[in-house]
Amino acid sequence: MDEETRLIRKGSAPQTLARTVNPPIQRASTVLLPNAASLYDDDQLTYGITGLSSPAALQQALAELEGSPDVTLYPSGLAAITGAMLAVLKAGDEILVVDSAYKPTRRFCDRVLSRFGVATTYYDPALAPDDLMALATPRTRMVLLEAPGSLTFEMQDVPAIAQAANARGIITLIDNTWGAGFYFKPLAHGVTISVQALTKYVGGHSDCFMGSATTMDTVIGNQLGDAMWDIGWSVSPDDAYQMLRGLRTLAVRLPRHQENGLAVARWLQAQPEVSRVLHPALPDDPGHALWKRDFTGACGLFGVVLKPCSQRAVHAFLDALKLFGLGFSWGGYESLAIHCDPQLKNRSVPVKLEGPLLRLHIGLETVEDLTADLDQAFAALRAA
Ligand SMILES: Cc1ncc(COP(=O)(O)O)c(C=O)c1O
Repeated sequence: MDEETRLIRKGSAPQTLARTVNPPIQRASTVLLPNAASLYDDDQLTYGITGLSSPAALQQALAELEGSPDVTLYPSGLAAITGAMLAVLKAGDEILVVDSAYKPTRRFCDRVLSRFGVATTYYDPALAPDDLMALATPRTRMVLLEAPGSLTFEMQDVPAIAQAANARGIITLIDNTWGAGFYFKPLAHGVTISVQALTKYVGGHSDCFMGSATTMDTVIGNQLGDAMWDIGWSVSPDDAYQMLRGLRTLAVRLPRHQENGLAVARWLQAQPEVSRVLHPALPDDPGHALWKRDFTGACGLFGVVLKPCSQRAVHAFLDALKLFGLGFSWGGYESLAIHCDPQLKNRSVPVKLEGPLLRLHIGLETVEDLTADLDQAFAALRAA
């Protein structure tokens, strides 16, 4: 063979690989088939878009976490929510979406699903399951839950809602990112589709995006998988590897987030500038009984309602933080803070809080360092 051909063709994938602890990262669009008959064999993996070694290994590990072998991976957490909805909804359907859902979920319903003839009704997270079901019509195809709710941390009676929806043939889909698949098991509580942003706690290091959807229903599982093909999404093998690496330490990291989060939450409850802390694992939280019944733990994300003060004072507090970063994500090893009020404006059920709302993510740092940072930021708030 000519040198050009040799340079092009030598050094390609080995027939066998050394046995390593972790799966290899196979980067491939092209999958080489063994013979002509295999080209159109539905049982063969024929194209890299469906995911090779590292996504497959991640799916296997997530199956253990979620309690079902049927795991679909998506390029982001939001893609998992929107992809699962696109997979099962059709024109003419109606859906009930909790008013405290992650804001981009709402944007998808309002901007995209509406264009395809799917109508959304937002429901108050405080509605009792029977009152929620009273909103359903013969066209209602899905109830979307998120517990605790984004930013305002309301709990929902997930098993009762799932049971009532199942009895009417309505699909339930939950955004279980707060429970991380570890502290809450939606499928075991009767939910049809459990979604989480792996970007948060499973990844755990604030450096890559991915989402997953899991179901016990094999028909819906096939619809989820088919929709990935239909839409043309796939996940990067490198990101799948990173997610798998994060998953290995999820059960070690989460208890530390829980412990740190509760310690900081209790410290905040004692501060004169704080009106209340929104954290379902605190005994005086309105959602505590449901959390205690259904969850086995809490992550490091919660809300803080300040006593009434100006936006200038809130900004002075946030700008004074040194250890806490100002950032919209959560679930990584680091502590973060945001001001939530601008995001609460588009809720259907007005959120009535006595003062500004902050959201804190408590990372793996030492609690005393975090409270010292908050303490000096409260001094800046008072001075503003
Ligand atoms: C509750 C919740 N669900 C889903 C997502 C979406 O995750 P991603 O950023 O991977 O799309 C987020 C992101 O902040 C979130 O907070």
